[in-house]
Amino acid sequence: MTLTQESFSFVATLVRQKSAINLAPGKEYLVESRLTPIARSHGKTVEQYLAEQRARLSHTEAERIVEALTTNETSWFRDSQPFVALTDHILPELKQQRGLLATLKVWSAACSTGQEPYSIGMVLTDYFASQPGPRPVTEIIATDLSQEVLERAQKGRYSQLEVNRGLPATHLVRHFERSGTEWALNQAIRQMVRFQRHNLLDSPPAGGPYDVVFLRNVLIYFDVQVKREVLAKIRKVLKPGGFLILGAAETTVGVDDAWTRVQVGRSSIYQNTVGKK
Ligand SMILES: C[S@@+](CC[C@H](N)C(=O)[O-])C[C@H]1O[C@@H](n2cnc3c(N)ncnc32)[C@H](O)[C@@H]1O
Repeated sequence: MTLTQESFSFVATLVRQKSAINLAPGKEYLVESRLTPIARSHGKTVEQYLAEQRARLSHTEAERIVEALTTNETSWFRDSQPFVALTDHILPELKQQRGLLATLKVWSAACSTGQEPYSIGMVLTDYFASQPGPRPVTEIIATDLSQEVLERAQKGRYSQLEVNRGLPATHLVRHFERSGTEWALNQAIRQMVRFQRHNLLDSPPAGGPYDVVFLRNVLIYFDVQVKREVLAKIRKVLKPGGFLILGAAETTVGVDDAWTRVQVGRSSIYQNTVGKK
């Protein structure tokens, strides 16, 4: 069964309003498959469930629908290059700018189930262990729209299948312990990360300004006007001279040209040069 146009438009409008995710025509199948478990939990078909929600939408069901339509695909050290850019370019450059790097604040926006902020935590731990002098006071804020992925991230527990996706064996041995059928991330890395619910359509989370923002593989779901607004908000909470890292298929070029693109190896990163001394 394919969704009626009425039901599809209802979901697409709701999801766009609440998350900015753009569900273009042709995504009817995606909507139907993602909403099937929710409809079943009410003992209904997707059409019946949506007809009921169209008549009277509750806050809880609206949130469930939006969460179900987020794509939470992620992996450890995803695309590897951004993490190389962090140690080989960003941290040395921040040190040079400030003379001494006493504090470091990183925001992993749209962090999904935690692999990204925890990968950052492992990279920073290894990097500072290899450097002379005191380790900066480091904070990683990790946010997502979806409460469900945040709850999973906070647990710091991953299946064998999940650790197989990008986590080097050396890091598994060093930072995880077996726990039943899962792997539990150690406390030292977990306590570097503070998870918080946040919608990129809202003002950035308190706790800034940030030195580095990871905003990867989420702008692709937004239309150009929303991308522009999100990038402008991030610029305001990124320190002058700070860096933004986007996903491999994303760019600020032609969207928000206030950024300076910096080529590092095979990847591009973006620097907030507005107000930089
Ligand atoms: C594909 S994942 C990317 C995860 C990670 N950054 C990476 O690159 O591996 C996209 C994430 O964006 C989140 N997301 C979608 N719309 C959002 C919004 N408006 N505000 C905050 N997070 C959002 C989703 O819940 C999802 O977890």
